[in-house]
Parts: sequence; structure tokens; C-alpha cells
Amino acid sequence: MIRAIDEKTITDAALEQMEGTANPRLKQIMEVLVKHLHAFAREADLTPEEWIEGIKFLTAVGHKCTAYRQEFILLSDTLGLSSLINTLHDKRTGQTGTKTSLLGPFYRQDSPVMKLGDTIATKPTNGMEVVLYGQVKDSEGKGVAGASIEIWQPDETGNYDLQKHDPSEMDLRGHFHADADGRFYMRTVAPLGYMIPMDGPVGDMIRAQRRHGYRPAHIHFVVGAPGYREVVTAVYLGNDDHIDSDTVFGVTDSLVTQVDMNDPASPMPGIPSIKFDFHLAAATARDMTGRVGADPSQITSAGA
Ligand code: BEZ
Ligand code: FE
Repeated sequence: MIRAIDEKTITDAALEQMEGTANPRLKQIMEVLVKHLHAFAREADLTPEEWIEGIKFLTAVGHKCTAYRQEFILLSDTLGLSSLINTLHDKRTGQTGTKTSLLGPFYRQDSPVMKLGDTIATKPTNGMEVVLYGQVKDSEGKGVAGASIEIWQPDETGNYDLQKHDPSEMDLRGHFHADADGRFYMRTVAPLGYMIPMDGPVGDMIRAQRRHGYRPAHIHFVVGAPGYREVVTAVYLGNDDHIDSDTVFGVTDSLVTQVDMNDPASPMPGIPSIKFDFHLAAATARDMTGRVGADPSQITSAGA
């Protein structure tokens, strides 16, 4: 007998056709997606005009993507999806480590390798020099010798190198290794908060929602070591006006810090400093990486 398709039976019809999916995880993900997508359309009572608006919007998001711009990730970020994926990732570990925050669109692979104490501010700057220091520790508080620390940030005007220079030039990013006790220190300039890229369809969405579009001042890190779960995170400056209204929901209380103008424990006393320790959980088979995002050029070339 031919099934009568209506707004309820369509969901089962779609699920039935996908039943033969060979990969069990793909099957599960697609089933849940279809159920929720159909429930969304039913609850919103979506009209054909609204559906085509959505298709146009997603098409524009795709067209905005290049080797230097990932508008789909920006959409995920601004809808809170990336942050949700991060919280699920953090929950999945057996041990508690430093909380994950967004990788963001300005991460670059192959940042310059530097020595402890070096400055990542390699171009002329009017920014306030700061020392960043701390220790990478395991779940028992023991230092992780030689831990890898990638760092990148915007400058004192809120711009990343990619937004100012030839993309082949790098500034305000570097790759360090902690000492035998897991301790690290490096110099930089205090970052300023900034607006997410607003010149694409995601910016149109943000304006339609009357959101300010800002991220509070922050410094990004990817910290890892063999046998530990990589942590993708950022530290946020607590005195920023947007500390509690980040457009991409990256801020969580334990990642908020501040510049100390006179910290006697700093490895470079006399220079303002930020102290932050990172905690690494042991690696699990399922979660070797916590990267909700990627160097955009990697995504573009994977699809090419
Ligand atoms: C960033 O922090 O670099 C960032 C994260 C998400 C969206 C835009 C920027
Ligand atoms: Fe950022």
C-alpha cells in the first residue's frame, strides 16, 4: 500500500530510506539530524518563502568561504553550536583539564618556533608589553615536560596579522615548548577585543538580531604533549566591556584572567604580566583533538 505522506509520516519515510546506511555512527547522526530538522520545520511552521530564504542564506555562507575565511564555522560559532560541541568534548574526558574554547578563524598551522622568553610581537607596535607565564600540568598537578604551546592573538587595535599584512607574513603567533617542569613564559602585547568578521551573511544575521558582534580581548592557545589530550583554548581579559556577552560564546569563568601590573612572581618583573596554568587530561582513544575548527585553507583544500 502506498503511504500517505503528511507532516508526521514524512519523518518515518525519510528514516526508513536511510536504514541501510553501512556506517553505524553516520546512521545515528543522520537519523537524529532528520528528526530534529523535521521537528524544527513543524514547530516553526516553515513556509516555502522562508525555506528558500534559508537556502539562499546557506548558499551565501558557502560562497563566502575561501582559504582564509570559513563562514560556516563562523555561523556555527555565532549560533552557539561550536561552544556546545566544546562543552560536550570537555564532558567526555575522564579527567578534568583546562576548558576548551574556540579555535576561531585566525589559527594558522606552522607558526614560527620560538624560545621561552621570546616575543611574538615581531612588527612595530604601540601595544602594552606583557609577559605571559605559567605551567602546563597533568591531572595530578605535575608539570608536563616540554609541552607544546601554540599561541596567537590580535594586536592592541584588535586585528590579527591576517587582517593587516600579506597572509604569508606571520605576526603575534608562535610555537613554544615548556621547560622540563612544564613551565613557560613568553612576551607579547596586550590584545584588544574585536568584532567578528561582519562583511558576510553571518554579519547580516548578527545585525538582524541586533547583536553587537564583539569578542572580548583574548589570547588563543593550543596546548598538548604526547599521551595527553590536546587543549584548544583561550584566556580572556576580565576588564573587557564584552566579557559577559561574547558573540561566539567562548568565555567561561575559569578562562577569565587579568593583567597584573606588578607581580613579583613574574619571570620578568617590571613588565605587566598574565599568569595562567594549563591542565592536560590523559588522552582517550576517541578524543585526541579538541579542534572545533581548522586552518581554513585545510578545509578548502580538503574539498577541492
Ligand atoms: C576568534 O577568536 O578568533 C574568533 C572565534 C570565532 C569567531 C570569530 C573569531
Ligand atoms: Fe580570536
